[in-house]
Amino acid sequence: MSFPPSPTESIDWSNVGFKVRPVNGHVSCTYTLSSGQWTEPEFVTDPFLRIHAMAPGLNYGQQCYEGLKALRNPDDKSIHIFRPDANAKRMQYSAKFVAMPEVPVEVFEKAVNLAVARNAEFVPPHASGASMYIRPLMFGSSAQLGLNPPEEYTFLVFVLPTGVYHGVHPVDCLVLEDFDRAAPHGTGSAKVGGNYAPVLIHSEAARAAGYGITLHLDSKERKYVDEFSTSGFLAIKYGKQEGEKTKLIVADSNNVIKSITSNSVQQIARDFGWEVEVRQIDFEKEIKEFDEVMAAGTAAALVPIKSITRKSTGTEVKFAYGDNNPEGVMKLLTALKGIQSGVNEDKHNWRKQVVEA
Ligand code: COI
Repeated sequence: MSFPPSPTESIDWSNVGFKVRPVNGHVSCTYTLSSGQWTEPEFVTDPFLRIHAMAPGLNYGQQCYEGLKALRNPDDKSIHIFRPDANAKRMQYSAKFVAMPEVPVEVFEKAVNLAVARNAEFVPPHASGASMYIRPLMFGSSAQLGLNPPEEYTFLVFVLPTGVYHGVHPVDCLVLEDFDRAAPHGTGSAKVGGNYAPVLIHSEAARAAGYGITLHLDSKERKYVDEFSTSGFLAIKYGKQEGEKTKLIVADSNNVIKSITSNSVQQIARDFGWEVEVRQIDFEKEIKEFDEVMAAGTAAALVPIKSITRKSTGTEVKFAYGDNNPEGVMKLLTALKGIQSGVNEDKHNWRKQVVEA
């Protein structure tokens, strides 16, 4: 049989959603301090793990994770993974924060390729606009009571066919004010679970109040934009005068996760001839000056933000719906998806073709 197989007919590709579904299996590797190396990536069919309940990954939050995507080309006959080397490096960065060994880039890429290749029928058809979400994760996995690094670490790669996380329509955003996501010199820039679970109680309350996404300001001064709970913050200012360029402004801070989607969109904006500024954004001073705001992440792709509300200051800003202006968020999103799915030229060499494994 030729590779890759066609998309399975067992899934309604017009309604993929963002949820866990059964697939063929995942990839697993282990590392021990005594061997100093990772085992060969192995394909495992059982999605359930057998680990000791005293593993630091379960008790002390010693874990980190990644998110990346695989997509089919327009003829559905090849599959590419978007920027796996960038995710591999970010996982190395996160692992250091929680005293875990690095997964070498080659091991990461081999494991991701294996996971996608053996589940290739679950990579959505190109025409669906959906993709395969790839979730690498790592955790301290041998039993350990004391608060010191354990002997063994497990690195896994799971895959799931998905649509986009926040849907495709603009969402209302609430600034979270009762809770600080990241301490000034803390772990905010690492993709560790401990940055996500504490947000849940607040993002669920916001959702119940009608806000589809939540935003964090810096925790020291509550002045500068950090990031959305699920994704990076980017804004657009249109060039309004003759000769004035469109500007993409990206919130930068030591406490945000370096979004690979945001980084890609910055490059795309430069390729359009836009100006790109990566810098602190003073929320109260600047938020009203933006024409469009978007959230950028692997799961989210680019989500236009409809409004931002900050209750303590009575600030409520409404933005142009991104899909009303073909020159704003929608132009970036179309270009990004075009590159990821083989419609546009991949001039920055971001895609890696999946090979049979
Ligand atoms: C991703 O976009 O890949 C993430 O890890 C965010 C997560 C909350 C779904």
